[in-house]
Amino acid sequence: MTVTSEPDLRSPHTADEVAAYVLASAIWAPSVHNTQPWQFTAQGSEITVRTDTSRQLTVADPSGRELLMSCGAALFTGKLAVRSLGYVPETRILPDPADPFLLARLRWRRQAPQTAAEGRLFSQVTRRRTHRGGFEPMPPPAGLIDALRACAARYDTRLRVAVTDQARSALAGITQRADRAERLDSAYARELAAWAPPPGSLRLDGVQASAYPAHPEVTDPYFPGRDFAHGQGWGLPGGPRVSAARYAGVVCLLTTDVDDPTAWVCAGQALQSILLTAAASGVAAALHSQPIEVSWLRAAIRDHLGDGSYPQLLLRLGTVIQSAVSTRRPVPAVLVPHHLNAAG
Ligand SMILES: Cc1cc2nc3c(=O)[nH]c(=O)nc-3n(C[C@H](O)[C@H](O)[C@H](O)COP(=O)(O)O)c2cc1C
Repeated sequence: MTVTSEPDLRSPHTADEVAAYVLASAIWAPSVHNTQPWQFTAQGSEITVRTDTSRQLTVADPSGRELLMSCGAALFTGKLAVRSLGYVPETRILPDPADPFLLARLRWRRQAPQTAAEGRLFSQVTRRRTHRGGFEPMPPPAGLIDALRACAARYDTRLRVAVTDQARSALAGITQRADRAERLDSAYARELAAWAPPPGSLRLDGVQASAYPAHPEVTDPYFPGRDFAHGQGWGLPGGPRVSAARYAGVVCLLTTDVDDPTAWVCAGQALQSILLTAAASGVAAALHSQPIEVSWLRAAIRDHLGDGSYPQLLLRLGTVIQSAVSTRRPVPAVLVPHHLNAAG
C-alpha cells in the first residue's frame, strides 16, 4: 500500500483508504513515554501490527511488557476505528514463531452497524490525554467504575480500586520509592531524558513539555509524576504555585492473572478501553508505571494483593480541566511497505 496524500477520513472507500483511516486512529493510542513502538503493514482488508523494538525502553522495560501494552492499546484503537466504519474486526494475536515481531493481524470483512457506545468511545480517541497532577475533589459519575471494571474483564484483566485510605497510602508510598529509585539511577534518568524533548522540539514522539505542568502538583496521598523536565523548569506554565495538596483521584491497579506477552497485549487493550470509556464520561486518567518497573516494588504490590495476580499499571482517575498537548508520528512514518517487512 502507498500513501500519497492525506486520506479522506470521512468516507474511505477503497481497502487502502480504509487502512489509512484505521491507522490514523490507531496512532493516537497511549504509549509508554510516547515511544509509539509500533509498525504496521496493510494489504487488502488486513492490517498487520508489529512491535518496533528499536523504540523499546531497554532500561525501564527490558522484557518489553510496556511496549506490548502500548501496542495492545493501538490494536484496540484500530478495532474501534474499524467498527466506526460499520465493519466487524477480526483479530489474531501473537505468537507466530516465524515472525517474532508480529503482534496481531486485524481484518475486516463482515458488516454490522457501529453501536452508540462504540461511537462515544471512538469520539474520544484523539481527544483523550494523559493527565499529570491532581483532580477536583468529586466522585466519578455513578456506575462508571463498574463500567471500567467490565472493560478490564473483557480482556481477562482486572481493575482493582484501592478503597481504603490504608491501601491508597500504601500504593502512594510504593510509587514514591519507585520514583526515587529511578531518579537516582543514571541509566533510567538518561533513558527518560532521551524521551523528553526540550520545549520547541520538532520531534513527533516522546513526552513534550506541552504535556506536563512546569510546577508538578502534589496530591494527597502523594503520587509523584515522572521527572520529564529533569530540573530544567520545562512544562506548561499554568497558574501560581499551589502549596495545598490536591485530590489524588480514584486509585486503581490494572492486574492480570498471568504475566506473559499475550497477557500484556490484553492489558494494553483493556487499558485503552478503560481510558476511552472514562474520557467519554469526562473523567481523565493519570498513569504511573514507576512502581511496576522496579521489580522488588512490583513484588511488594503483588504481596499486598495476596492472590498471585500481576500488577501491570497504576491509574488515578478523576475530573479535571486538561490543557496537555501530545504529538504523534504520522501514518506514513509507521506504515511499512509490505515487501520491506521482515516476514512479508
Ligand atoms: C504502558 C504505559 C505506561 C505509562 N506510564 C506512564 C507514567 O509512568 N507516567 C506518565 O506520566 N505517563 C505514562 N504513560 C502515558 C504516556 O506517557 C502517554 O500515553 C504518552 O505520552 C502519549 O500521550 P497521551 O496519552 O496524552 O496521548 C504510560 C502509558 C502507557 C501505555
